[in-house]
Amino acid sequence: MEELESSELGTLEYWENRYKDEIHNFSNHGDPGEVWFGEDIVDRVIRWMNESDIIEKNSKIVDIGCGNGMLLVELANEGYRNLIGLDYSENAIDLARKIAEKQNLSIEFMTCDVLKGLPDKYEVVHDKGTYDAISLSENPKEQREKYIETVHHSLDEMGVLIITSCNWTQNELEEQFNGKFQRTATIPTPQFKFGGKIGSVVTCCVFQKK
Ligand SMILES: C[S@@+](CC[C@H](N)C(=O)[O-])C[C@H]1O[C@@H](n2cnc3c(N)ncnc32)[C@H](O)[C@@H]1O
Repeated sequence: MEELESSELGTLEYWENRYKDEIHNFSNHGDPGEVWFGEDIVDRVIRWMNESDIIEKNSKIVDIGCGNGMLLVELANEGYRNLIGLDYSENAIDLARKIAEKQNLSIEFMTCDVLKGLPDKYEVVHDKGTYDAISLSENPKEQREKYIETVHHSLDEMGVLIITSCNWTQNELEEQFNGKFQRTATIPTPQFKFGGKIGSVVTCCVFQKK
């Protein structure tokens, strides 16, 4: 399996600048900014969580690399009560707090580099696009392995990781997470057909800690 070539999306500087612009847009026009991979994926993940018999409304759920925090906003509106958002970009956390405060939602947000460890243990770790960003950093293999180790350490015994990626297929994710996790579900994502082959634009998997 080949590593991805590093890009600016793997740097803190890129995200700080991006969220600085998004704060400006939110303050001026109320626009919360990009929902990565589209709202449909958020709906599908939340539907899966609602139907799951291992996740409850008071489960401790952390979104790592939460960006503008919109997934947590949607979860709070669905009645989930124990929500934490972490991102290494201070501007992202600032934006996420502003958005949640405007809707009077009680969500905890904290600046945190997930590669340096998470502050607590959780029943659910959610990641949409963060492992992808980490895979685009310098020394991607080392960083990916650190991520897998950190998430494993921060999950409760029966905890799950819900991960959405546009850079890796289900098989690749399984290969990478296999030592410490086993895939227990795949959340269906929109598919496209090209030349008779069916593929997905994004992959969304649920991994349980081994
Ligand atoms: C593609 S964006 C996705 C944002 C959000 N999850 C969403 O779906 O809208 C990737 C996010 O990961 C964050 N990120 C990247 N590396 C990180 C790290 N080591 N620790 C914490 N956050 C990180 C970035 O700041 C950015 O907010």
